[in-house]
This record gives sequence, structure tokens and C-alpha cells, in this order.
Amino acid sequence: MKLVKVRNPEEMSAFAARRIIEKVSSSSMLSLGLATGGTPVGTYEFLIDDYKKKQTTYRNVFTYNLDEYVGLESSHPNSYHYFMYNHLFNYIDIPSENVNIPNGVASNLKQEAISYEAKIDKIRGVDLQLLGIGENGHIGFNEPGTALNMLTHVLALSESTRQVNARYFNNYDEVPNHAITMGISTILKSKEIILLASGESKAEAVYRMFTEKVGSNCPATVLRNHSNVVVVVDEKAVSKLE
Ligand code: F6R
Repeated sequence: MKLVKVRNPEEMSAFAARRIIEKVSSSSMLSLGLATGGTPVGTYEFLIDDYKKKQTTYRNVFTYNLDEYVGLESSHPNSYHYFMYNHLFNYIDIPSENVNIPNGVASNLKQEAISYEAKIDKIRGVDLQLLGIGENGHIGFNEPGTALNMLTHVLALSESTRQVNARYFNNYDEVPNHAITMGISTILKSKEIILLASGESKAEAVYRMFTEKVGSNCPATVLRNHSNVVVVVDEKAVSKLE
């Protein structure tokens, strides 16, 4: 796992955007694994800015999002589907048929998870996966305690994650109880991974990711078993490691 230290969230976002643009520009076809939440927003802003200035095209890019809340329609402002269009897809030329996000309102969620995993298997794992990290060490919605060999699955969100995510909802009770997420095994199928972390609230998780025994107590530790991972951290997020 390679550690890249930068000064602030802006440099972190620029680093990830540069790598994504490099891959998009040099590939005749590319699969991108994408994350939601606060962390990747700056990266998406850089991509939009680059698209406006240089018209980098996303016509041959296929995206695969990490996760989605169960029970939220794609039109719900808190769904990850809505988030992705609002923060990125509406502003670049990606064809909507190239966008893949788990369907959190599928009538058969188990089947939805199996089908989503099959899509990722068909491309033999995404080419480049962008990740954030939860304060409790989760990646995707793989909460502490999740088996490391899980594929895409439906899970109950931990109380701590629901509390952290409540800032996007009117109140805590509105935060869905369940989500559908790529599993750890799904994420490890990616050919290249960039994990971003900024701010003091991530310092403990970053410290644990590098120092704790690889295991489900801190799911992000499994990235140490992958041969092509770059962890980009700002000064605050790396403060406990130094
Ligand atoms: C989002 C996701 C989560 C977030 C993590 C950090 O698709 O899978 O693992 O990356 O919860 O969230 P933020 O960036 O809001 O701190």
C-alpha cells in the first residue's frame, strides 16, 4: 500500500482527479468504481472543470458505484444515484446506459446483489476504484465485523455510520437502516485502488488501516493485501500515523 501525503483536501482531490483523467484519456474503454459521501466531491469537481476546459470524453467509460441505500428511489435527494448525477454525471458526457449503481428499491435485493456482482465479474473487476474510508474503518458499507470474503450484499448499517450520515438527512430516523454494497472481495477484484482520506475525523481510521492486524475489525486493513493501492491523505488525516 503506497502512502501519498498531501497538505489539504484540495491537493488530495487533485491527485485523484489527475489519475482518473490520465486513465480516461489513455484507455479505449475504462471501468471506474466510484464512491459517494463528502470525500470524493472535490475530485468530481476537478473532473467537471477538466471536462469543461479540455472536453475529456467519458463516452467509453463505464462506472460502478460502491453502494446504495435500501429503500430510497433513485429520485430521492439522499440516494447515491441522485448524488452521482448531481455531483458528476449531469456535467460530463457519460451515456446513462454506462452508469451502474446498485438498485436499492429492487423487489428482490438478494438477486440485485448477485446481478451486480455478475456485472463486475464480467469486466473482471473495475480498472480503477475510488474509495473513501469510514471513521470506523469501513470501505463501501462493509462495516467492522463483515466477513472479508463477502461479495455484493445487503447489510444493516451500524448505528455509528447512521449517525455520521444523518447530517445529510432531516433527522437520524430518516437514515435508512440497510444498504446494498460491493463486498470486500468485490473491491479487491479492482485492478487499481485509490483511497482518499482528509480531516481529523479520519485520523484514527487511517492509523488503524496501516497498523492494525489485517481483519474485519477494521475492514480497510484488507487493502494491505492488494498489490496496487494508493492511499492519499492530507495532514490532518495522517496525523496519528506520524
Ligand atoms: C460511499 C462509501 C463510504 C464512504 C465513507 C466515507 O460510497 O462507500 O465508504 O466512502 O463512509 O464517507 P465520507 O466521505 O462522507 O466521509
